[in-house]
Amino acid sequence: MRRTEIGVIGLAVMGRSLALNMADHGFKVGGYNRSREVTDEVLREHPHENFVPFYDMKELVESQERPRKFMIMVKAGKPVDMVIEQLLPLIDEGDMILDGGNSFFEDTRRREKNLREKGILYFGTGVSGGEKGARFGPSIMPGGDKEAYGHIAPILEAIAAKAQGEPCCAYMGPDGAGHYVKMVHNGIEYADMQLIAEAYLLLKYAGGFTNEELADTFAEWNEGELKSYLIEITAGIFREKDDFTDKELVDYILDSAGQKGTGRWTSLESLKQGVNVSMITAACNARIMSNRIEERKTARDLFDSPKPKPAPEKTAFKKQVREGLYTAKIAAYAQGFELLSHASGEYGWDLDYGRVASIFRAGCIIQAQFLDDITRAFEKNGALKNLMMDSFFMDGVNRGQRSLRDIMCMGIQKGIPLPAMSQAVAYIDAFRGMPVGANLIQAQRDCFGAHTYERTDRGGIFHHDWRF
Ligand code: 6PG
Repeated sequence: MRRTEIGVIGLAVMGRSLALNMADHGFKVGGYNRSREVTDEVLREHPHENFVPFYDMKELVESQERPRKFMIMVKAGKPVDMVIEQLLPLIDEGDMILDGGNSFFEDTRRREKNLREKGILYFGTGVSGGEKGARFGPSIMPGGDKEAYGHIAPILEAIAAKAQGEPCCAYMGPDGAGHYVKMVHNGIEYADMQLIAEAYLLLKYAGGFTNEELADTFAEWNEGELKSYLIEITAGIFREKDDFTDKELVDYILDSAGQKGTGRWTSLESLKQGVNVSMITAACNARIMSNRIEERKTARDLFDSPKPKPAPEKTAFKKQVREGLYTAKIAAYAQGFELLSHASGEYGWDLDYGRVASIFRAGCIIQAQFLDDITRAFEKNGALKNLMMDSFFMDGVNRGQRSLRDIMCMGIQKGIPLPAMSQAVAYIDAFRGMPVGANLIQAQRDCFGAHTYERTDRGGIFHHDWRF
């Protein structure tokens, strides 16, 4: 019997989708799940000639050609360590373990180091695209041993989404690089989703758009510079009917968002690196605020709302919101990629940002036409520090910032919370060299704590004897 070429451990939605994707591409896949009912369910619902079920980890291991390859698709955290512990006594030097979950990159670095010492090659592998992506073509971000990548590349690149014929999978760098890139991808995803939500609030509560108009607007935007998976599904969401009423479902969904942690990790990591990803942080905070359901309900009657203002003319307003959203989106991606660039230096990963952008072009949640432009910017200048310094994006910011400011003013006057867009404006203004008030802060620091300051007119470090 032909030996299996890879073993997938964990057959919940993402694991089974990836396993079947591999099977579709002609790879013989061994599948194992801790509880056998899940394996049986896959067999029953998705029988496939290339998918072989195993109910015993040892048999899964023995079925494989060498070097063996295992893709772990279990919940991030302890479960990953548990699977590794189970595998370790059964496998040999030179075998490979891939972790395809959203593991924290520091865990991946630790695991990679421990396993390397034992001769096992470990790949922290970011996988994006949700269930459909995993089944029919995700974006894949593997990190680990560069030479060993050649062994897993044929499988990963075959199952990945394709953008202009190229696989959306590429070697990212050593140890935690793949999971780091996935973490930042998710941080950007948070910011992008929050910006879209804010555009929705503006159109609905300032512009008076109906769900049908919202659907048409997002569908129209999906034809231009905002063309992306998230804009596309947003258009669909506004049309989707509810199962219990004859209205649109979106209006029956509680105004409270979940989060599993990858956005928060990005934000925490940015503070550690000293990089401003304020829009990602704003998106996390927006979700946190959204969870205060009872307090928000109570407070609604306790605070005054701004006086009503006339609604703007719809066509002109729609154009402003589109331009403002696009401008803010540039700032969000600039922040995310700047974090990648700092991390690359800090952890010695030598990330290729153009390549990162190119594998985001299809398959993943943030896939967008925009990623082609980002790829080009980094191909033009691999050392680009911040996307906004690329002429294409600089032009975008210069063209759109007026609209961003106008819609922000409208939102503020109407009492609509726009945390990510506000951060975009503040970021752009600080970035373009406007005074940020740090001279006063330095004066205060020197005044109360003799922390010293630098001067604008001469070099050196100064302390002033404050006289008041
Ligand atoms: C992806 C998604 C995926 C998942 C996130 C959502 O790239 O396929 O990012 O990883 O949807 O975990 O995260 P939250 O539950 O935190 O929104």
